[in-house]
Amino acid sequence: MNMAYELWRRGFKVLLWDNDKQGNLSKAFGRYHAEQTAPVTRLLNGDWQKPEELIQPTDYEGMDIITSNLSLFGATWNLMKEESEDRVKKYQKFMEAETGEQTGSIVSDRYDYCIFDNPPDIGINVLNALVITDEVIVPVKIDENALEGLDIVAEQIEDARVLNPSLTLKGVLITIYQNTDGESAGLEWLRQEYDKADSRNHSRYDILGVIRYSRKVAENSFVKKPIYEYSPWCAAAQDYKWFVSNYTGRER
Ligand SMILES: Nc1ncnc2c1ncn2[C@@H]1O[C@H](COP(=O)(O)OP(=O)(O)OP(=O)(O)O)[C@@H](O)[C@H]1O
Ligand SMILES: [Mg+2]
Repeated sequence: MNMAYELWRRGFKVLLWDNDKQGNLSKAFGRYHAEQTAPVTRLLNGDWQKPEELIQPTDYEGMDIITSNLSLFGATWNLMKEESEDRVKKYQKFMEAETGEQTGSIVSDRYDYCIFDNPPDIGINVLNALVITDEVIVPVKIDENALEGLDIVAEQIEDARVLNPSLTLKGVLITIYQNTDGESAGLEWLRQEYDKADSRNHSRYDILGVIRYSRKVAENSFVKKPIYEYSPWCAAAQDYKWFVSNYTGRER
C-alpha cells in the first residue's frame, strides 16, 4: 500500500493486485468484501467477460485495485488439478484484454505500474503473477529465518524464469528495521553478500531500501491509510518515500 501510494504521488497510474487470500491489501483500502466471489478468484476461474467487472477504484484517483478474499483458496485448489498449459496464464489474459475505452487499448496500457501483493508461498496464483512480472521485490524482516529464506526465494524465482524469461529478482526491501546490534549485523551481512555476488546474479541481494520500525505504522492498521497520510514525519513514512524515489529515479 505504501509503495503504491508513493508511486501515485509521483503521478504514476497504479494497478494493485491483491494476490493473497487473507485480503489484507483489500482491507487496507476498505475494499474487502467477504461475501462475494473475489475478482482475483474470478480471474483464476476464467469467470469474467470484461475487465471493468474486476477492477475497482480506490479513494485515490488513478490507483485501482483487484481485490481478494478467502474464495481464492478454492480457485487455486481447482487450478492445481487442471493440466492445461494456460493455467498459469489467467492473469496474462486479463492484462491483454481489451478495455471499453478505445479500440485496441488493453488493460496493461492503462497503468504505469502493476503491483502484486503475494503470499509467502508460491502457489498457482503466484505463478500466474510471475508470468507477467518484470521485477520481484522481496520484503524481509532481518532475522535468521528470513535471511535463510532468501536463498529459497532466489531459487524459486530462477525456476520461474522458464515461464517468463524477463523475470528478475530486483532485490530486497528491509522492513520493520530496528538498529539493534543483531539487526545491524544482519544488514551488514546482506550488503557483503551483495558485493560478493558475481555479475551473473548481480541483483541477487540488492538492498532497495530500509524501512525503519515506527510505532505509528502499528497503530495505523486501524486507520486504513498510507503511512504518509497518517504520520508524514515518522521514520517509516520517510523511508518509503526514499525507497520509491530511488526505485523510480523520480522525486515527488
Ligand atoms: N515499519 C514498520 N513499523 C512498525 N510496524 C510495522 C512496520 N511494517 C509493518 N509493521 C507491522 O507488521 C504488520 C504486518 O505487516 P505487513 O502486512 O506489511 O506484512 P505481511 O508479512 O505482508 O503480513 P500479512 O500479509 O500477513 O498482513 C503490520 O500490520 C504492522 O502492524
Ligand atoms: Mg502480506
